[in-house]
Amino acid sequence: MDVLVLPGPDACGRAVADAVTAVVAPGGPVTLGLATGSSPLPAYRELVRRHRADGLSFAAAQAFLLDEYLGLPAGHPQTYRQVIRRELTGHLDIDPDAVHGPDGTAPDPERAAARYEQLLARSGPVDVQILGIGTNGHIGFNEPGTPPSSLTRVATLTARTRADNARFFDRPADVPHRVITQGLGTIRRARHLVLVATGAGKAAAVAAAVQGPVTPDVPASVLQAHPHCTLVLDDAAAGGLHGAVTGDRHPAGLPWSGARKGHR
Ligand code: GLP
Repeated sequence: MDVLVLPGPDACGRAVADAVTAVVAPGGPVTLGLATGSSPLPAYRELVRRHRADGLSFAAAQAFLLDEYLGLPAGHPQTYRQVIRRELTGHLDIDPDAVHGPDGTAPDPERAAARYEQLLARSGPVDVQILGIGTNGHIGFNEPGTPPSSLTRVATLTARTRADNARFFDRPADVPHRVITQGLGTIRRARHLVLVATGAGKAAAVAAAVQGPVTPDVPASVLQAHPHCTLVLDDAAAGGLHGAVTGDRHPAGLPWSGARKGHR
């Protein structure tokens, strides 16, 4: 696991964008894994900027969302399908039909989850999977207790995650209880996992994921065993790490091959 500690969210966004650029810039077919939530937003702004300013093209890319709420009407602004269109894919030259997500409106969500898992297995592996982390250590919507081998399925959110995500809804009670999420086993099939976390609110979860035991109590701890995982942290999110990692900086470091220089 590579841990990159940078001065703030914008520097983190550029680092995440570098990892995506490394696989997109060559122009061949590429499979991206996209996360929602606020942590990846600076990276998405940077990718849109590179598309507009540098002509970085996503025309040959396909993209897969990590998760989706169940129970929101199609087109609801907080469905992750809408969020990703608004924040990223709607501003790029990616084919809208190449942007995939679990169907949160399906009459049979279990079947929709199984279908999404099959689609991912057929289309993968994901080249770069962007991840955030919940304050309880969840990735995607894999809450504490999720087995490391889990696949895409219907899951129930914890009270903490619903409270954390209430800021996106008019009323806390509007946050759905159930979701479809890629499993930890699904996520781990990606070639390169890039987890971004910013702010002191993530420090405890990051420390547990990076330096605690690998345990289902902290779903993100499974990343410790992944062959190519990069954690992109700002100083505040890295604040709970101890030992050699604290204060590590890679101001000009581009830890993945092929990343374009000149963006930091
Ligand atoms: C949601 C998403 C996760 C995301 C997490 C953290 O629960 N399902 O994929 O990582 O929120 O969100 P934020 O980045 O807004 O803190």
